[in-house]
Amino acid sequence: MQKATAKAPANIAFVKYWGKENDDLTLPCNNSISMNLRDLFTQTTVDFSPNYTSDEVAIGYFGESPTIVADKKRERVIRQLDRLRKLQGINTKAKVVSVNNFPAEVGIASSASAFAALTMAICNALNIKYDEKSLSILTRLGGSGSACRSIPAGFVEWEKGDKSENSFAHQIAPTDHWDLSDVILVVSKKSKKSTSLEGHKSAKSSPYFLSRLAELPTRLANVREAIKEKNLTKLGSELEKEAMSLHITALTSLPPIWYWEPETISVIKDVYLLRESGLEAYFTIDAGPNVHLICHSNDMKKVKNYFEGKTYLDSIFVSPIGDGAIALDQHLF
Ligand code: DP6
Repeated sequence: MQKATAKAPANIAFVKYWGKENDDLTLPCNNSISMNLRDLFTQTTVDFSPNYTSDEVAIGYFGESPTIVADKKRERVIRQLDRLRKLQGINTKAKVVSVNNFPAEVGIASSASAFAALTMAICNALNIKYDEKSLSILTRLGGSGSACRSIPAGFVEWEKGDKSENSFAHQIAPTDHWDLSDVILVVSKKSKKSTSLEGHKSAKSSPYFLSRLAELPTRLANVREAIKEKNLTKLGSELEKEAMSLHITALTSLPPIWYWEPETISVIKDVYLLRESGLEAYFTIDAGPNVHLICHSNDMKKVKNYFEGKTYLDSIFVSPIGDGAIALDQHLF
C-alpha cells in the first residue's frame, strides 16, 4: 500500500507530561495518564508516490478545507516522514492531508491527535509492521509526546521509561469501563503565545519542579485507583491539584509562562459554584487558557447548560471518552 488514512482522538491528561529527560527521543520526566476524547479528532491521509518531486503538507483546522503549509508545522511532519522512510530505506516523497474538527493550539491537544493519526497513516502506507506498543513509540518520537497516548483506547498511561524502547503508552482501563465526559470551555481561540515545547524546556528552571516530581508517584497511584474504583470525587481532587501543579511550575519557570487568561480564573470560580449547586465536575487545564471539566457523561448536558451563555466564554466543546487511533479505508483525496 502507498496510500493510507488514519483517525486519532485528542486526549486530555489527568496527570500531565511536563518536562523532558531527553529532547531528541522525547523521553518525559514523569509518567502521565489521560483519557481519549471520542469526538475531537484528526484524520490524516498520506500518499507516497514516485511521481512526487517534493513532500506536500496540507492542514485543515476546525472544519476548514486543507491548505498547504510551509512553516514549522510542515517541518515537524516532514521529520516524521523522514524518520519512517529511513526505517524502510526509501526516499519516496509524499502528500499529506490532515483535517481536524476542533480549534488547534489552544490546549486541546491538537498535535496529539495529529501526530497519532499521521504516524499510523505513514506506517500503514509504508507497510511498516507494528503492534500497539511499537506504534506508540514511533508516535512519541514524532516530538509531540502526548500523542503516544492517543494510540491505545480509553484510559491510558504513558510509562516514562529510560530509553526509547520502554517509553510507551498502554491502556489502563478500556473505553467502556467508565463513562466520563470532557466539557471543554474555550475562553480564547487565539493561538497560545507559548508552546508546550517551551514549557517542557523551561520546566526544570522552576523551584517547584522537583517537589512536583516528588508528588507524582502518589498522584499517579491515586488516579489509577480512582479510575479502577470509578470514583469521580477522588479523581477530581487529583485532577485539580495536578492542573495547579503544572501551572505553578510554568508560572515560576524562567522565563515565566502564563497560559491562563483572566477568563480562565472566572471559569475556575464558577466550577466551585457549580459543585456547590450539587453537580460534580472537576477542572483541568493544559498548556493553554481553556478549561476542561471532567464529569459523568450523564451530567454532561447539565454541566454544559450551566456554562452556556457565560459572556466570558467563546465556545464549548464536549466529548465522551473514546477509543484510540484507527485505520480508515476512506481517503481524504
Ligand atoms: C500540557 O509536547 O505532547 O498537554 O505541544 O501538543 O506537541 P504538543 O504537546 P506535548 O505536551 C503536552 C503537554 C500537556 C500535558 C499532557 O498532555 O500531558
